[in-house]
Amino acid sequence: MARNPIHSMLASPTHDEFAFQQYTLALKDFVRDRVRSRNEDLYEVRAKPRFVKEHGREPQSQQEIGSVMWDDPAYQMFSRLHRDGQEMMWASVSDTLYREQDRLSSDYTRYTQSNQCKGTLELDPEFEVPRGMANVDIHLQPGGYCSDYGDDDVLAGAFYEYGGNLYTMGRGVGQAESKGEVGVRFIKDRYRGFTPTRVLDIGCSAGSSTVPYVTAFPDAEVHGIDIGAAILRYAHARAEAMEKPVHYHQRDAAEIGFEDESFDLVMSHNSMHEFPQSTTEAMMRESFRLLKPGGVTMHMDVNIRFDEYSPWMQFHRGWDQINNNEPYWRVYATNNPSDMMREAGFPEESVWQGKFRQLDKSIQWFISTARKE
Ligand SMILES: C[S@@+](CC[C@H](N)C(=O)[O-])C[C@H]1O[C@@H](n2cnc3c(N)ncnc32)[C@H](O)[C@@H]1O
Repeated sequence: MARNPIHSMLASPTHDEFAFQQYTLALKDFVRDRVRSRNEDLYEVRAKPRFVKEHGREPQSQQEIGSVMWDDPAYQMFSRLHRDGQEMMWASVSDTLYREQDRLSSDYTRYTQSNQCKGTLELDPEFEVPRGMANVDIHLQPGGYCSDYGDDDVLAGAFYEYGGNLYTMGRGVGQAESKGEVGVRFIKDRYRGFTPTRVLDIGCSAGSSTVPYVTAFPDAEVHGIDIGAAILRYAHARAEAMEKPVHYHQRDAAEIGFEDESFDLVMSHNSMHEFPQSTTEAMMRESFRLLKPGGVTMHMDVNIRFDEYSPWMQFHRGWDQINNNEPYWRVYATNNPSDMMREAGFPEESVWQGKFRQLDKSIQWFISTARKE
């Protein structure tokens, strides 16, 4: 399967919308490859000497580096352009999605009313979206993850998948393998012969990473949880459009429910960087509680590790926290998920944490895994 599979719940752009989307990608590529790549030179040649002149020593932290970078006009120009590229990308996607909104909603309704459904959808009308997610247009996505405009609304999920497809195209992320497929390959490599029968994906969003587990383990019952109702409606319709049985539920990673020891694989992809630390810790405790003996947990996310970075890299990679509305970015980058797994009860010798390359070697993922005794 390709990273961005084609299915009937994907919105389809007109010629002009496509052209605008391609322009925003080209702008993002230009800013990343030609402007952002010069920021370190800017720091070394202009900002650092200014700091040294004022303080008689070199900057020692990302905050000190920020004190001379944020008011540098060239860095301000980069930052404005980088943000503009992201805003324009979402604007270009909005044109297509708002035009396709009614068609997507009616397709969702058609799938849910069909008696051919392979999977299920469980929404909780009493569900309280965690405060940190309710009010944030996360990575500038219009409406964030949790917008919900009514019973047949699927926009948040459509935004996540369609915008995400465009976003990853502009970031040099390989197209040959999806995040879920990377997770499956890692699990098959590390736990030879392990064949889960009940699988849980936490923070499943539109289900892009959930569905590959159905393909990889066709006899398993696969579940996904997320906090956004419209995201889950979209995920459900998407899975049905792809004829993949998935059971979606509106639940919080910090308090997942389900019975103790009822899964043999509990995993997440790209979710921890969206969670406050307390939620990630609780998710590890829930992973332990939910796993049967011998069960495996695997949590995979972007490879940003501040403990391995120089102060410059911490400043450089921290840009998204404020400028791309990623409220837990730095928290994630300084957390140690493997310690949380040990604290949750996973045996020391089963815990592994490290980097795992995408098949085409384009990027590395950061993976934490453990197995219950
Ligand atoms: C970056 S997306 C991950 C997408 C998906 N796993 C994938 O690989 O495509 C993060 C997801 O986590 C969800 N999320 C945020 N806080 C959550 C929580 N407390 N419990 C469950 N899901 C949460 C968001 O709604 C969002 O869909």
